[in-house]
Amino acid sequence: MNISKQLNSHIPKSQHYIRESLYTLIFTINQLVIAAGLEKFIIYSLKNGQLKFLGQVIQNDIIFSLCQIKCSNSILSGNIDGDIKIWHHTGLYHSKYLMKLQKHNSKISNIIMNKDEDQIYSCSTSIIVIDKKQQYKYCQNILQNTTSIRCMSLHESQNKLIVCGLEKQIIILQQDPLDLKWNKIQKINIKINGERLCFINDNQFVFQQYLKNQIQIFEFNYSTKQFQQSKEIKILNISNKCNFGFQMQFCKETQILINKNTQFVNIFKITSKNEFIIISQIDFDTSKIFGSMSEDGKYLITWDDKSRCVQLWELIDLHF
Ligand SMILES: *[C@@H]1O[C@H](CO)[C@@H](O)[C@H](O)[C@H]1NC(C)=O
Ligand SMILES: *[C@@H]1O[C@H](CO)[C@@H](O)[C@H](O)[C@H]1NC(C)=O
Ligand SMILES: *[C@@H]1O[C@H](CO)[C@@H](O)[C@H](O)[C@H]1NC(C)=O
Repeated sequence: MNISKQLNSHIPKSQHYIRESLYTLIFTINQLVIAAGLEKFIIYSLKNGQLKFLGQVIQNDIIFSLCQIKCSNSILSGNIDGDIKIWHHTGLYHSKYLMKLQKHNSKISNIIMNKDEDQIYSCSTSIIVIDKKQQYKYCQNILQNTTSIRCMSLHESQNKLIVCGLEKQIIILQQDPLDLKWNKIQKINIKINGERLCFINDNQFVFQQYLKNQIQIFEFNYSTKQFQQSKEIKILNISNKCNFGFQMQFCKETQILINKNTQFVNIFKITSKNEFIIISQIDFDTSKIFGSMSEDGKYLITWDDKSRCVQLWELIDLHF
């Protein structure tokens, strides 16, 4: 159902060759694109739909996740050893971080912040919650000793957090309004490991299983107070390899959902009737694709190990 046969074809607006592997690429509010991976930061400016290479810095980390702190013009990085660091974005040029935060035991797969930017959530084999108001002191360590958490998504109202990973389950956590502790409120068992998930509003989230040619939509049931699967949307093409990284992302303004799956990046539009329409499928011919969508939903930035190029894709022509 809901598959548009006439897919939009996409060609990159701008590309730049980078030989070393990159694992995370983000847009910042001051018109920069920052990429990191194997012991390097790469910085571009983004002007009129073109990337301009500004510089690169050698540093010692293998970084899997970046997250910007808009209010202080800084960047959080999560590395292979479990270190969380804060960098001022101009500091990236000097390869000197500002501060090291609480450490995980293992590689960090994702770091996110809440809307107020006072809480940091970092996942690895547990989720570490760090409170900025308490001078970035660690405040909670939840789901300890989980095999590996691949991704997290925060509810629009910021009091629910969903996670999935290599444990064949989706876990839903809720924050207690009084003591602010996160408690497990639901566990959804699945047959295969979870690769990606993302809230699209307070009542719905989208979930991608490993090597599955569909996405599943879960909806909150007000009578049972639990999320339950409401539908499945078929994806056109998949291959038999997938890879970590490249979080699923939703832009509320444009109602665009980006989901990397196997060697494809699928672009969905969610209509006012809550239909999920796949409008584009970009084939990278490799499963090692990393990237993200800009917050306004206008651009996608990627790096993949086939082209070995940082590529900027425009999403605004997805007319409906
Ligand atoms: C996690 O594992 C470590 C080492 O095996 C153990 O000491 C610790 O108590 C465990 N934590 C939880 C919450 O189970
Ligand atoms: C919500 O759960 C109740 C109880 O299991 C069920 O009868 C009802 O059909 C569910 N609602 C939806 C929209 O699925
Ligand atoms: C998807 O698969 C079909 C049939 O194998 C093929 O014709 C089409 O080009 C593929 N599309 C993409 C985007 O790879």
